[in-house]
Amino acid sequence: MKCNRSLELFLWALSILCLARSSDGYSPPDNYLIDCGSSTNTTVGNRVFLADSLASKFVSTPQNVLASASNSVSSSDVSQLYQTARVFTGSTKYTFPISQSGRHWIRLYFSPFDYQSYNMSTAIFAVSAQNFGLLSNFSASGSVMKEFSLNVTSSNLVVTITPSDKSFAFLNAIEVVSMPDTLIQDGYILPAWKFQGLPSQALETIWRLNMGGPKVSAMNDTLWRNWDPDYGFLVHPNMANNIPKIGAVNVSGGATEEAAPALVYGTATEMNARDYATRNVNVTWEFDIDVGSRHLIRFHFCDIVSTSLNQLYFSVYLDSSTVYSDLDLSTISSNALAVPCFFDIVSGLSVSNKLCVSVGPYTANGAYPDAILNGLEIMKLHNSDGSSSSGKIVSVIVGTTIGALIAALLAGVLFLWCRRRRRRLAKQGLSKTWIPLSTNGGTSHTMGSKYSNGATLSVASNLGYRFPFVAVQEATNNFDESWVVGTGGFGKVYRGELNDGTRVAVKRGNPRSQQGLAEFQTEIEMLSQFRHRHLVSLIGYCDEKSEMILIYEYMENGTLKSHLYGSSVPSLSWKQRLEICIGSARGLHYLHTGYTKVIIHRDVKSANILLDENLMAKVADFGLSKTGPGIDQTHVNTAVKGSFGYLDPEYFRRQRLTEKSDVYSFGVVLLEVLCARPVIDRSLPREKVNLEEWAMKWQKKGQLDQIIDPTLVGKIRPDSLRKFGETAEKCLANFGVDRPSMGDVLWNLEYALQLQEAVVQGDLKKTVLT
Ligand SMILES: *[C@@H]1O[C@H](CO)[C@@H](O)[C@H](O)[C@H]1NC(C)=O
Ligand SMILES: *[C@@H]1O[C@H](CO)[C@@H](O)[C@H](O)[C@H]1NC(C)=O
Ligand SMILES: *[C@@H]1O[C@H](CO)[C@@H](O)[C@H](O)[C@H]1NC(C)=O
Ligand SMILES: *[C@@H]1O[C@H](CO)[C@@H](O)[C@H](O)[C@H]1NC(C)=O
Ligand SMILES: *[C@@H]1O[C@H](CO)[C@@H](O)[C@H](O)[C@H]1NC(C)=O
Ligand SMILES: *[C@@H]1O[C@H](CO)[C@@H](O)[C@H](O)[C@H]1NC(C)=O
Ligand SMILES: *[C@@H]1O[C@H](CO)[C@@H](O)[C@H](O)[C@H]1NC(C)=O
Repeated sequence: MKCNRSLELFLWALSILCLARSSDGYSPPDNYLIDCGSSTNTTVGNRVFLADSLASKFVSTPQNVLASASNSVSSSDVSQLYQTARVFTGSTKYTFPISQSGRHWIRLYFSPFDYQSYNMSTAIFAVSAQNFGLLSNFSASGSVMKEFSLNVTSSNLVVTITPSDKSFAFLNAIEVVSMPDTLIQDGYILPAWKFQGLPSQALETIWRLNMGGPKVSAMNDTLWRNWDPDYGFLVHPNMANNIPKIGAVNVSGGATEEAAPALVYGTATEMNARDYATRNVNVTWEFDIDVGSRHLIRFHFCDIVSTSLNQLYFSVYLDSSTVYSDLDLSTISSNALAVPCFFDIVSGLSVSNKLCVSVGPYTANGAYPDAILNGLEIMKLHNSDGSSSSGKIVSVIVGTTIGALIAALLAGVLFLWCRRRRRRLAKQGLSKTWIPLSTNGGTSHTMGSKYSNGATLSVASNLGYRFPFVAVQEATNNFDESWVVGTGGFGKVYRGELNDGTRVAVKRGNPRSQQGLAEFQTEIEMLSQFRHRHLVSLIGYCDEKSEMILIYEYMENGTLKSHLYGSSVPSLSWKQRLEICIGSARGLHYLHTGYTKVIIHRDVKSANILLDENLMAKVADFGLSKTGPGIDQTHVNTAVKGSFGYLDPEYFRRQRLTEKSDVYSFGVVLLEVLCARPVIDRSLPREKVNLEEWAMKWQKKGQLDQIIDPTLVGKIRPDSLRKFGETAEKCLANFGVDRPSMGDVLWNLEYALQLQEAVVQGDLKKTVLT
C-alpha cells in the first residue's frame, strides 16, 4: 500500500454549513440533454435526450458525421445513448444559452465504435469549456461518462471540442444541466494557501461511491449522479461490514437529498469491531488519482449504526494524516441519530497516484471501537488556465525524492451540512460560522474566516510544508538575480511562483552559519505556531543540501519602509499610514497576547512590516523572536539583538527582554511613518541624526507638526496628529513599565484614525451644504 507517503494533511477548517431543504425536488433552470448522432429522442429514466437534428442550433459545425452502431439495444437505460455518436473532423463549438448563471453539470458520454472510416477508439481530442480545459489528449476506451461541474457566469456556455493533429473527435451524448448553487460552497481560504476558492473552480468527478451498498444510478439521484459501490476500493474488504439501513435515515433533518440520496446515506461500510482480530484496524479505501492535482474530497456520514446518541466516536484520515479525530456525529447533527451530513476537504497537490481514505476507531475516551463511512466523492480541481492543477513542481517532487516522506501541501476544508444550524444562524444574521476543531494533538484550532462576523482571522496550526530544492529552483527561475526583491543580513529574497500560480517570496539564507541556522529554525517554529491576517504567512521551507530557504506569501507592495523614503513609490496618505500602523499593531498585539505564551518579536522596524496588494500590513521576520517570560518571571535575559535605531534603551542597558521592547521599537516606526525619514540619518546635522531624539524634542514642545512628512502637511487633522504623537511618545517611554501594551497602542491608533475620518466626513458635509 502506498498510502503513507503520498500526502500529508496540515490544515483544516471545520464549518457547519447548512442548507434549506427545497420542498419538492430540484428542477434545473438550464437542462440541455442531447443524444448526439441520434435521429430520434431518447428517453433515459425520466429524462429525454434530444435527437441530434433538434440540437443542431447549438453546434457550430452541423455538417459533422452522424454515426450509429450496428447493434441495437431495447433497454431504457443509459446504454441507448452509446448507440450513436457525432464525429467531429475539425474544432467544433457547442453554444448553450444559459438562463441562470451558477454552477452547471457538464456530462460527456463516450463509447467508441467503428463507423465507416472512423475507428473511434483511435480518436484523440480535447474538450474545454469557458476557460477550463476539461479533457486534453483524450481517447476513450470503452463506454465512459465524464462529469464536470463549473460555475457559468456568462449568458452562454461554450463547450469546444478540438481533435488532435490528424485525428478526429466524437461524442455520444452531452448534458449541460444547472445544479443547486449551494452544493459546492466556498470554504475557508487559508491565508498562506491562497486557495482560489471553490466557486471559481471547475471540478471533475473522479470517484463517487456509495459505501456498503449497491450502485445507485442516476435515475435514483435527484441530480442524476451515479454512485458506485465501494467494495472494489477497499484495501481489506474482508475486514469491514456492510450496513444496509436505508429506512433508518432521518430524511427530515440534516443534508438534503441534493447532497446525496437516502440510498447512499442509508448504507455504510463499518469497521469490523465485533471481531477481536480487527477491533483495532482502520477501514481503508485506495483510489487512483492523477499526480499533481488538487482534489475536493467530500465525506458523507449518517450514523445508522448507533442505538443511542454519543455512542460512536471515530477518526477520519486522508493518507496518513488525520482529518478529524474524535468525530461524534450526534453532536454535529443536532443530537439526533441517523441524520445525514457531510464535510469537505481540499487536498494539496498530490504527489502520488494513490489516495487513501481511512476511518478508524477513536477509543481515547473509552468508547467502543467503531467507525463508518456512508459515501465519498473525490473531485479533481481544474485550473482556469486550461491545465489541471498538475505540474512541474509535483513531477519534480516525484522524480527526485527517494520515495521518502515528502510534506505535501494540503489545505483542508471541512464542511458539514445541516439544516437546523442554518436556521439558527439565519436568525442571527449569519450564514456561516466557524467552530473550533479539536485535533488529535489536543490543541484547539480556531479558525477565522473572511466570512465570519468578527474581524478575526487566525489559525493555529502545525504547518511545515517542506519543499524539495528543485521545486524552489523552479519557482525562482533558478534563483534568477533579476528576481531578487530584497537583500538582508539573512540573505537574498526572490520573488517566485509555485506551479499552481501562487506567488511567493523566497528567502534564501547565506550558507549555513550557526547563527543563521538558529534564526531559520526559530522562524519556521514561530510561523508554524500561529497565523494571523497581520502576520506574514510561511508557505514552506527547504532545508535540503544545507540550504536554508523560507517561502512566504508574496507581499505585492514590499516593505513599509520603501513607501516612506528612499524609493520612488508614491507617498501614502495619512489614512493609509494609520491603517498600516493599526494592522501592524494588531499583528504585534496578537503575538503578545494571542498565543499561550508571549512572543516577543525583537526586530520591529519598518523594513519588517510588509504590505500586500491592498496595502494591508503584515509583520514579518520572526528570526529573532523569543518566547516571553513565563508566569513566574518578569523578563527574559538574553543577548541584545535587534536593529540599531529601534532598540529599546532599557533592554540595551539591562539585557532584560519583555514585550515592551517591541512597543518601544513600534514607537520608532510610528515616528518614521509620520516623518518619512530614516531612524538614523548621519548625513543630517547632529541634533537631527536620531529620529527618536529629534522627534521627541518637538513632541515635547507640542510642535510635532513642524517635522512631519512634507507631503502630509495640511492633510492631518490636528486632533489625529496629537493622538498619534502622544501614542508614539508613550511607546518611547524610558522604562517598559511606563509604556502602553500593544492593545492600548492599537486602541489609540484606531482613535487617531477616527479623528482623521471625522474631518473627512465633516468636509463632505460642508461640501454638500455649500
Ligand atoms: C423530442 O423532444 C422534444 C422536446 O421534448 C420535442 O419537442 C420533440 O417533439 C420530440 N421529438 C420527437 C420526434 O419525439
Ligand atoms: C480500432 O482501433 C483499436 C485501437 O487502436 C484497435 O484495437 C481496433 O482493432 C481497431 N478496429 C478496427 C476495426 O480497425
Ligand atoms: C497523449 O497520450 C498518449 C497516450 O495516452 C501519450 O503517448 C502521448 O504522449 C500524449 N501526448 C501528449 C502531448 O501529452
Ligand atoms: C459564480 O461566480 C460568481 C463570480 O465569480 C460568484 O459571484 C458566484 O457566487 C459563483 N456561484 C457559484 C454557485 O459558485
Ligand atoms: C432506482 O430506481 C428504479 C426506478 O425508479 C427502481 O426500480 C430501483 O428499485 C431503484 N433502486 C433502488 C436501489 O432503490
Ligand atoms: C430528524 O432530525 C432532526 C434534527 O435534524 C430531529 O429534530 C428530528 O427529531 C429527527 N427525526 C427523527 C424521527 O428522529
Ligand atoms: C489508522 O490510520 C492512521 C493513518 O494512517 C494511523 O495513524 C492510525 O494509527 C491507524 N489506526 C489504527 C487503529 O490502525
